[in-house]
Amino acid sequence: MAYQTIKTFYANKNIFLTGGSGFVGVSYIEKVLRSMPDVGDIFILLRPRKGQGIQERLDTIKNNSVFDVIKASEGSDVLLNKIKPVCGDISEEKLGLSDNDFSILCDHVNIVVHCAATLDFETDLKTAITINLMGTKRIVELSKQMKHLQCLLHVSSAYVNSNKNYAMEKIYDAPANYNDIINYALTMDTDKLNSSAEKIMGDHINTYTFTKALAEHVVNDAKNDIRTCIVRPSMIVASWKEPVEGWTVSKNGPQGFIMGASKGVVRRLPVNQSLIYDYIPVDVVINTIIAGTWFSAQLPKSTPTVDGQTPIFHCTTSTCNPFRWKDISSILTTTLHKYPIRGAVWYPNIKFLPNLFMYWISSAIFHFIPAYILDFVTKISGGRPILVRLHKNVNRSLSKLAPFIFNEWKFDNARTLRLQEELSVDDQSVFYIDPTSLNWTPYFINLTLGVRKYLHKESDKTMKQALKKDFFLFIANGGVQLSIVIGIWYLSSFITGTPMLANFWAAFIPIIFGYFF
Ligand SMILES: NC(=O)c1ccc[n+]([C@@H]2O[C@H](COP(=O)([O-])OP(=O)(O)OC[C@H]3O[C@@H](n4cnc5c(N)ncnc54)[C@H](OP(=O)(O)O)[C@@H]3O)[C@@H](O)[C@H]2O)c1
Repeated sequence: MAYQTIKTFYANKNIFLTGGSGFVGVSYIEKVLRSMPDVGDIFILLRPRKGQGIQERLDTIKNNSVFDVIKASEGSDVLLNKIKPVCGDISEEKLGLSDNDFSILCDHVNIVVHCAATLDFETDLKTAITINLMGTKRIVELSKQMKHLQCLLHVSSAYVNSNKNYAMEKIYDAPANYNDIINYALTMDTDKLNSSAEKIMGDHINTYTFTKALAEHVVNDAKNDIRTCIVRPSMIVASWKEPVEGWTVSKNGPQGFIMGASKGVVRRLPVNQSLIYDYIPVDVVINTIIAGTWFSAQLPKSTPTVDGQTPIFHCTTSTCNPFRWKDISSILTTTLHKYPIRGAVWYPNIKFLPNLFMYWISSAIFHFIPAYILDFVTKISGGRPILVRLHKNVNRSLSKLAPFIFNEWKFDNARTLRLQEELSVDDQSVFYIDPTSLNWTPYFINLTLGVRKYLHKESDKTMKQALKKDFFLFIANGGVQLSIVIGIWYLSSFITGTPMLANFWAAFIPIIFGYFF
């Protein structure tokens, strides 16, 4: 197809974005403004939250570190002023929009990007239906009323097909009729609905994948009325290249794990190092959203579909550049000591356990015992103890996450790779969507640095002090380990009433335990 370039396409286009305060949303706003300054306005749907009105929420968004690069350039105010907050909530009728905002959107918007969702795997079914399914239906209804709409892009998830080990870029049969499910949410008693969740969801792992799978069908059913597109990312992680390498504000997945590991608090993780884990950098996801919108907007009005469906793009790496933890595990601890944090509470040391049973045992020793001791010290020195609560929360959510940790999925992304080929040479370099050339080792080093800077908020200036502290913790950790070995050795000699030398084997107990757990 002979397309205009992406930059030309986006010039003067007005965008309506939901989920603009989230990880994907802020990244999308940043990339669009930085790479396509000629874009029109970006209307973002915001709900008042935690005592903040939408104007205050917009100020918070503008203070996000993602905009540091834009702010360092001239004319950043003009660009950031293109973000227009609109008060609403996707779980409410007509998205909770005022009549005035509703008609402004209908009159002016050309592109809709729907990112808002609840991602909490533990969300009850009713809430997940209300936000992920009914919210998407409301977005589709609004989009249909937009006079100048060119494309509605829906951000889905590769795991909508978590009931298949190999998924293609196509829409599979719905796990249920979405109108029936919406009807349940509207008419059934909440407790009854939530307690019937497992039965209703069939082979879906949780309410998130179930409701996101149904939401895709809502979008696909609109394919003949408006141009639509669906992007399915896997687990979204820190940026690969832009706005800077390793940028992130998400504490999900490897980022949260590395955050806890660099503090010395998370020391064990249940992971099958030989399995493929599908991670995709956020900048690649954003570029696919931008390119997917551009692609679908230019499909013929008579048949705005591919193979009779809404075009689907997998933002995934499992088939084109598979990642396995065993490939980087050796550099992980080294990296944490090369770039330590000043706020570490103990000497970082990570170990992967191949199953949950071994993890529970190991976690009891290496997470909970130190957590109880450190919380006690914090409490008597007037601080707020958090570690025991944190580990309890982690362990609770690990039970829910287990199917994701010990399963391998492959997501075919041939169509997405072909999309890259369809871009002009210039667009290919600005809106790179092919992750095949990503080298996971330097990527994870940058991710660790990103976690240090953007999640722990430690600037490069703290590095010297952090290195000194890391050395101190190394000595302290060694001292504690030696004391444990000698302590158990002594205890065994004391219990058996025999000399220490005759009990030298007892010294190996903690060493062997530490090796396996
Ligand atoms: N992160 C991932 O690894 C991942 C992977 C695959 C797919 N996805 C998809 O990517 C999209 C964005 O995810 P994310 O990582 O950016 O999530 P996120 O950081 O948790 O952001 C979620 C966004 O949705 C908004 N939202 C939630 N409920 C809303 C409601 N009732 N009304 C209006 N806005 C609401 C939130 O607004 P508030 O600030 O007001 O809460 C926030 O802006 C989602 O559709 C998700 O399913 C994400």
